[in-house]
Amino acid sequence: MKITSSLTKPSQSTADAIIAAVYSDKKLDDITQEIDSMVSGKVSQLLKSGDFKGNSGEVLTLFTVSNKRVVIVGLGKKDKCDLGVLQSATSSSVKSLVSTPANSVQNYMTAIDFGKLDKEIARKIIAISAANTTYRYESTKHFEKDNKHNLDAMDFYADESQEKPIQQASAIAKGISTTRQLGNLPPNICNPSYLAKKAKKISKKYDNCSLTILDHKEMETLGMNALLAVGQGSSNKPKMIVLKYNGAKKEQKPHILVGKGITFDTGGISLKPGLNMDEMKYDMCGAATVIGTFVAVAKMQLPINLISIVPAVENMPDGNSYRPGDVVKSYSGKTIEVLNTDAEGRLILCDALTYAQEFEPQVLIDLATLTGACIVALGHVASAVMSKKDQLPADLLKAGEQIHDRAWQLPLWDDYQKQLDTSFADMQNIGGFPAGTITAGCFLSRFTEEANWAHIDIAGTAWNNKKEGATGRPVAMMVQYLINESQK
Ligand code: BES
Ligand code: MN
Ligand code: ZN
Repeated sequence: MKITSSLTKPSQSTADAIIAAVYSDKKLDDITQEIDSMVSGKVSQLLKSGDFKGNSGEVLTLFTVSNKRVVIVGLGKKDKCDLGVLQSATSSSVKSLVSTPANSVQNYMTAIDFGKLDKEIARKIIAISAANTTYRYESTKHFEKDNKHNLDAMDFYADESQEKPIQQASAIAKGISTTRQLGNLPPNICNPSYLAKKAKKISKKYDNCSLTILDHKEMETLGMNALLAVGQGSSNKPKMIVLKYNGAKKEQKPHILVGKGITFDTGGISLKPGLNMDEMKYDMCGAATVIGTFVAVAKMQLPINLISIVPAVENMPDGNSYRPGDVVKSYSGKTIEVLNTDAEGRLILCDALTYAQEFEPQVLIDLATLTGACIVALGHVASAVMSKKDQLPADLLKAGEQIHDRAWQLPLWDDYQKQLDTSFADMQNIGGFPAGTITAGCFLSRFTEEANWAHIDIAGTAWNNKKEGATGRPVAMMVQYLINESQK
């Protein structure tokens, strides 16, 4: 999707379609009045008759005499219009155009009076949501010729001062679609080497990027035995992918993101039940998020140094698999008793986090579809943030609030740590039923003691259901956080 901005008036637009918004107070501003006259006063007539009320999410499609599509979307009451309303109204309006022959849209939603809302953020959310709605997974499915998605260009009404946020939105949207696509690909295609190849393409496409990949032999030499144990049962060998972006002075310490890249999680010998096991193709959504965030940052050439690290591993049952009862020595030197081979995410992350600290991060954040318990705690609404620091989780929550990709904090108090105690190693890999999301965080905290670190569990937010698939969350939160960091 090509995203641009200009001050093209509706009557001068050459786009195939126009989108504009009205509140339920039914008042038309200069732009919507001009659009109204292009459709012979139909908008005001239908508002007057009550056929169109301007309620939140309501969509009206009209045509000009020359059959240009005009989509009017309702936003409801102005004082009730928040970022969530804008996001879903944008999505509804674009949805009504994606399957039409229209290639280009002139979008006037950015021109409305946003009331109390921050204008810059509101415009950004509209642009991200619009672009995001045009994404459709197509790689392994055939579509009829008359069911093409044609929309590939959108121009937003905004003056020069708004060009930057609109371009940031464009980069974020690109990051989100990258993440959704990786998440949605089937596990027989998107395996560890596929992720490595994708990373290579990305590092070549954008300026100031470089890539290192450790294969399983190099990881053996280094002693990343916790990670390697998880991969032992699969013929798709593990990879450690390290994507670097240099947008600031060399001396500036990097922000490092580590993403769980379990390309398929069967549970291993502690085999998962069959029902919905296919959804464990999404167990690499942490990896997809740090790659998508990397794409957005590199595309907008943000003035920071960023490293995205992906431990990519497949968790399979096999004669050579690791087993419950095994004790492994992690890259840090700490020993771990494996009591459940389905608690594999933390085993690959602990080695990746130890490795990440060799690059001396100023901030270290891991993202992972780590626990089913996280869905119980926060549902599909908020990602869970955990940290032993004060400022970092506050900054993450703030960024999520700003861009409407929200997170909520859970405690990492030492009181929970004893659930990981065992007689046979420095720790065990499960903490029992109570507070499963937190004890997973506690496990990781034992490998990040020296760092300014936060853990984000995205088990509830990374994908929605079978039909909608990967959401691309929380790329927007992460990029907004990094934008805020670059302005410090
Ligand atoms: N990838 C899963 C977590 C998960 C499950 C995310 C379902 C989203 C939906 C993770 O590897 C896992 O299996 N976790 C176990 C941990 C348990 C064995 C301590 C879980 O949550 O049941
Ligand atoms: Mn698992
Ligand atoms: Zn998993």
